[in-house]
Amino acid sequence: MRIPVERLAGKGYSGEDARDGIIIAADLAAVDPYRAATHNKGIMNGIDPLAIATGNDWRAIEAGAHAYAARSGRYSSLTRWWADESGALCGSIEIPIKVGVVGGPLESNPTVALNLRMLGAESATELAAVMAAVGLAQNFAAIRALATEGIQKGHMTLHARSVVTAAGAPPDVFEDVLERVIQSGEIKVWKAQEILADVEAARAGSSPRPAAAPREEAMGIGYGKVVLLGEHSVVYGRHALVAPIPLTVRALVEDCDSGVTLMIPRWDVEYQLAKNPEQRRSFERSAGVIFDQLGLAGRGMRIEVFPEVPRSMGLGGSAAIAVAIIRALDKHFGLGLSDAQVNELAFQSEKVAHGKPSGVDNTVACYGRPLVFRMGDPPLMEPLHIQKPIPAVVGMTGREGLTAATVARVRRAWDKDRKLYEGIFDEIDGLVLKALQAIRDQDVARLGELMNINHGLLNALQVSTPELEKLVTVARDHGALGAKLTGGGGGGSIIAVCEDDTQPVVDALHRAGFDAFALHLGEELRGPA
Ligand code: MEV
Repeated sequence: MRIPVERLAGKGYSGEDARDGIIIAADLAAVDPYRAATHNKGIMNGIDPLAIATGNDWRAIEAGAHAYAARSGRYSSLTRWWADESGALCGSIEIPIKVGVVGGPLESNPTVALNLRMLGAESATELAAVMAAVGLAQNFAAIRALATEGIQKGHMTLHARSVVTAAGAPPDVFEDVLERVIQSGEIKVWKAQEILADVEAARAGSSPRPAAAPREEAMGIGYGKVVLLGEHSVVYGRHALVAPIPLTVRALVEDCDSGVTLMIPRWDVEYQLAKNPEQRRSFERSAGVIFDQLGLAGRGMRIEVFPEVPRSMGLGGSAAIAVAIIRALDKHFGLGLSDAQVNELAFQSEKVAHGKPSGVDNTVACYGRPLVFRMGDPPLMEPLHIQKPIPAVVGMTGREGLTAATVARVRRAWDKDRKLYEGIFDEIDGLVLKALQAIRDQDVARLGELMNINHGLLNALQVSTPELEKLVTVARDHGALGAKLTGGGGGGSIIAVCEDDTQPVVDALHRAGFDAFALHLGEELRGPA
């Protein structure tokens, strides 16, 4: 197996760091029999299920593998990992595997025959090679986790997940029950069963939806958002129109003995915040800025984050998380932060997450109302009055849109030909100002047309994708007056506006295989800030 080093980058690690960590983990297993035992067990995690599925004797394979690992008189690793001259990570496995693809026991079990056909392995040698490859891949995954984020990542949420599984929560209510169990502070099977019964009764309509948590009062809240017009050009000083959506992120802070633990159970994320900013990875970095700036990084606390905003869907999830955490810290420690201070801190966090953001996402996440926004010092953030809430639909591609990546992409293009791109940004700005007038005139057809043209220009900026185009087309074909990508693009979501009935658009998007929900832009979501 040979993996180019750049393919190993991710989760806050450079490819080189991940590669070197994997090699050290493998070297350790080569010299330490106790580490080798776990290392080889990881390999067999891959091989045994395949042996069982193909009707082979997994115990014999296990015995052979461990005997072979001890052939030198000292138990050692069955794999080797090293770097070649180009820096790529290389791995190999040496393991005795004696298996079959024909014979009585195999043919008497129809599932085995089916599995062998699916696998397409035509000879015992080929099957043995596939098994070895699976073992090597499994070993790679395990030591990569070991060398980077750690195998125990998410152990608290993992524990809660197993409790909810034990309570018998079906997939459609699983995440809901999980969050409520964690919020309750009682990570116990009886509690999960109680919550499951409440959630199911509420779904069946036989009781009101259970109160999310007695701790609701202590929660900080941040709003998800849609950009109606003006994303990307807003990064270059033009206007954008934004509105919050009825999906929020809530966060709760609780004291604990030491260290800052950040948990997002729904996303299976759990971090211990490193005190030293240099040692922080990915999400830890953007959240860490908040604790550093508030002088709280040394305090003991646990922060639980409950996002309704879907992850990386262009709906302002990261900004809403930052705002929710800051507001929760403000409540817990009685910091007395003003909205402007919350917004400024969230902007600092967004800068770490997104490179060069305009600040539009954190502003709407903080104020929770429609805005006309333009960056600056201070930024312009005028309330956008939508007299009659506008029926709209958000459609999601289901593919991650990484705003940092699309913003960086547009910047590279702008750097090469500023005149060309400044012209496009000016055109978008003209559309935004016309759309503002259309909203004041309650002319949704005109607003839709302007959104369509804005989408065309976002396409010119090359931040659309085939899925986004599909969603936009489906929405327009089923009665939307206008539809465009919203947010950073490169995946993520679209926003469509409708005359009145949004259901045909929602249904058509569902039929096309996408998630979608209806909302009313301009609907009151919170009281005065
Ligand atoms: C993201 O919601 C909007 C962008 O314009 C980025 C930003 O303004 O920071 C793409």
